[in-house]
Amino acid sequence: MKKYLVIGNPISHSLSPKLHNYWLKQNNIDAIYDKIKLEEDGIKEIIQDIKEQKIAGCNVTVPFKKKVIPFLDILSFEAEKTQSVNTIIFEKGNLIGHNTDIMGFDKAIKALNFNMKDKKILILGAGGVVPSIIFALKGMNVLEITISNRTKQKAENLGILFKNLNVMEWGNLSEFDVVINATSLGLNNEKINLDFSNVGKNKLFYDVIYNPAETSFLKEAKELGNKAENGGAMFIYQASEAFKLWHGIEPEVNFETLKLLKND
Ligand code: ATR
Repeated sequence: MKKYLVIGNPISHSLSPKLHNYWLKQNNIDAIYDKIKLEEDGIKEIIQDIKEQKIAGCNVTVPFKKKVIPFLDILSFEAEKTQSVNTIIFEKGNLIGHNTDIMGFDKAIKALNFNMKDKKILILGAGGVVPSIIFALKGMNVLEITISNRTKQKAENLGILFKNLNVMEWGNLSEFDVVINATSLGLNNEKINLDFSNVGKNKLFYDVIYNPAETSFLKEAKELGNKAENGGAMFIYQASEAFKLWHGIEPEVNFETLKLLKND
């Protein structure tokens, strides 16, 4: 039986096994998908297992999306541009790193019917998923992208990968059309200590976090009169793209799939 994995640290919150195993069963594929909490020195062994095809393929999450790159032979265009890999496949003797987070975010926004063109975007955080979000936003022709991160240097470092990013101090918010939480604040029900009242009303607040389904960031956004969306659809679409890369089948995304995220 083929074995697939998601590696990360922490990993307990990941619903990838639940989703992939559901699709595997639905498509009668004889394979299993598991999650493993890894320390950095464990990457090498997993990669070796993929080379030997003891593991058929692997998803990568925080904090290893960049750290796996030196172990790979080829990167997709998107993975190269974002220096971020979330899906590893083994093809014709080569380990190939893909980035399906970009398509995940892109499809999630399209599913909302929200037009990003000419919008002013604020991204909170500068961690692993942010380059993918920036890449996707640039393809949507947004007006401007501002990054605010507790550690300002990390926000400035994103300027190595992307042109024309604004960097803002952590703390003082002004008016934006869209605010994206890409920090890890909320994963364990922590509050983001920012005052969102200056952002304005009827804006889109998007949280990359999907588990828990409603972070305090989204709750507060609603209370202030904004549209609030969690990262559930982004998560499902990045997974469906990874599934397609491994199995050559695009799994069905429907109400049942969304329900899988709510049962926990
Ligand atoms: P990594 O930083 O290893 O890529 P990540 O989960 O992708 O991990 O990113 C975590 C993000 O949440 C970072 O932007 C982090 O800010 P720092 O770069 O300053 O660490 C942000 N974050 C985590 N805890 C935070 C806190 N208490 N206040 C503000 N931002 C926080």
